[in-house]
Amino acid sequence: MTQDELKKAVGWAALDYVEDGTIVGVGTGSTVNHFIDALATRKHDIKGAVSSSEASTAKLKALGIEVFDLNSVDEIAVYVDGADEINERLQMIKGGGAALTREKIVAAVARKFVCIVDQSKVVPVLGKFPLPVEVVPMARSHVGRQLVKLGGNPAWREGVVTDNGNWIIDVYGMAIINPPELERQINAIVGVVTNGLFADRAADLALVGTTGGVTTLRP
Ligand code: 5RP
Repeated sequence: MTQDELKKAVGWAALDYVEDGTIVGVGTGSTVNHFIDALATRKHDIKGAVSSSEASTAKLKALGIEVFDLNSVDEIAVYVDGADEINERLQMIKGGGAALTREKIVAAVARKFVCIVDQSKVVPVLGKFPLPVEVVPMARSHVGRQLVKLGGNPAWREGVVTDNGNWIIDVYGMAIINPPELERQINAIVGVVTNGLFADRAADLALVGTTGGVTTLRP
């Protein structure tokens, strides 16, 4: 099976966690795009979606799924999103697609976070994938210097502007032994909007696409 076939398998498997009559939180990325295709087959059963990016919003609307502003919504039953890396505690690195801030906000509101990944994303220690950090543009150099003090090797993702009008720094070379602590340390740097560690709010379960089928991981 190709990597995209594994992504498609988990995207469709996540449909089992969608409850009728609810608002669904929708992440961003190529795996989530398969989930959105699947969700469109249930669009008359759900109230609609809250989206984590302009890209997902466009796809949801194109398929006839109503997209709600998060501020008009009290509750999100389930949030479905991919990840760049995930460990056995279901802590993740996200933000490869630069949507980390809105993803983290929607995940914070959701009752349940279902992470959908192909098997290549499951790792023993987070950090081989460079950790994305969203920064206010004028703070880029300052944040970069602070990230070096934390042991990282920061690189500006030049040319990329987030949906929030900010920039992304990717941090290379970190073996992240204590994800919640590093998440808090980086978020405490002035000028950081948020970072791509999802450790304080890890996933509740992960659907992993393997050549043997979809397996479920719980923390
Ligand atoms: C976007 C993300 C994505 O979930 C992550 O990059 C995984 O993407 P894909 O499903 O395309 O492999 O965090 O900001």
